[in-house]
Amino acid sequence: MNEHDSEKVAGVLLTRGYRQVERIDAADVILYNTCSIREKAAQKVYSRLGELRPVDGTRPGSASGLEPQERTGGRFKDRGQWRDRPIIGVLGCLAQQEGEQIFERAPWVSLVCGSASYRKLPQLIEELETGNRRVTGLETETDETFETEITRRDNPWRAYLTIIEGCDKACSYCVVPFTRGPERSRSSESVLREVRQLADAGYTEVQLLGQTVNSYADPSARRMRFSDLLVAAAEVPGIRRVRFTTSHPREFGKDIVEAIEAVPGICEHVHLPVQSGSTAVLRAMARTYTRDEYLAKIEMMRAAKREISITTDIIVGFPGETEKDFEETLSLLGVAQYDGAFSFKYSPRPNTPSLRMEDAIPEEEKSRRLAILIERQREIQRARNERLVGKAYEVLVEGKSRRESQWSGHTSSNRVMNFTSQREESLGDYVQVKVTGATPNSLVGERS
Ligand code: 5AD
Ligand code: SF4
Repeated sequence: MNEHDSEKVAGVLLTRGYRQVERIDAADVILYNTCSIREKAAQKVYSRLGELRPVDGTRPGSASGLEPQERTGGRFKDRGQWRDRPIIGVLGCLAQQEGEQIFERAPWVSLVCGSASYRKLPQLIEELETGNRRVTGLETETDETFETEITRRDNPWRAYLTIIEGCDKACSYCVVPFTRGPERSRSSESVLREVRQLADAGYTEVQLLGQTVNSYADPSARRMRFSDLLVAAAEVPGIRRVRFTTSHPREFGKDIVEAIEAVPGICEHVHLPVQSGSTAVLRAMARTYTRDEYLAKIEMMRAAKREISITTDIIVGFPGETEKDFEETLSLLGVAQYDGAFSFKYSPRPNTPSLRMEDAIPEEEKSRRLAILIERQREIQRARNERLVGKAYEVLVEGKSRRESQWSGHTSSNRVMNFTSQREESLGDYVQVKVTGATPNSLVGERS
């Protein structure tokens, strides 16, 4: 989601006549997009901003340049002084969370803007260009979405596309409802128009994005359901694959599974964060489902006519998580048989309800639980991938290895496939590959 926000922000700048430069010291505008989902991500931002500190502590360009190279970790090798006064901006969730405090901690910053205010960005940048010293976009109460004339996409085949912004859930650990504002969906016409433009531009894969993508509610008269939108996107000529992320278990209905069963272009992969295997912890997290309700969704997917790959997110060490609760998470891994999992240690965040709960689990204990969980999941993934040896899958060719005849890409189930081929493959093609080996995180294959 953040990467795609950056692509859209870059598009806004292109529309205003800016162009991208290779080196940071050649830039007139430097915008940092930020994350504050866990504390570590937030800390990184201030250390990056520190690297841009001008020598005399005022705005960059107003004095003799940046700090000496050794203090910036050598990132600005060979750089001279700033050509001009660069505008330095902080975007995203940390901007929203810290607000004007960023100006105090890093006075060389002149723009602070959260994602719910991005549609104001052209105006904010214009204000800076015309001499304003500091501008902010920090409102979150909005019913508008951020749509851009131009999006500067990084990947030539797979295009991200936001269909719903913000989040109306209230998971007790999570900053997103605070930093990204309330849920607001784009009209289905607007989404499908963009999908058609992407197909015309040569993209074959689109990934529909939202914090809770399946809460999509078409604001237009067509009132398309999320599952109908998936089908309609997959029907656009030229589009071979439609992905979507992230789904919330609460609204994850049978209609989505039926759409995957019926339409081969909808990828056989669902990312369905569980967060914990213990109903008590889920309740404390305000996830709005129990362990059994969640597992019923998994069963529904496992019963589908196509084999659906399921991945998840898990938090360990949430306040009050007992050893028994943690064991329930481990046992859920065994039942759910995920094909991938992102797992995290609980990190207390500002403006979240769980901040008031005592973060009582020591860091070492969180680390211990995380390590056990990762190891358990690794073994599950190894076994699941090994089952696939001998089968053949369609792979989008995305990379060529330095090694002779070695290529890589993704299957519809979003597995990484490294394969050998004696032909000269073309990046962006879809090819059949037979699986010859497996590791926990990827498949090995041969072009068939
Ligand atoms: N601490 C740890 N992990 C978190 N996540 C969200 N908030 C926190 C937090 N405070 C995780 C959740 C979510 C993923 C994107 O990040 O698992 O699904
Ligand atoms: Fe955060 Fe919960 Fe919303 Fe996901 S559903 S973005 S975890 S509040």
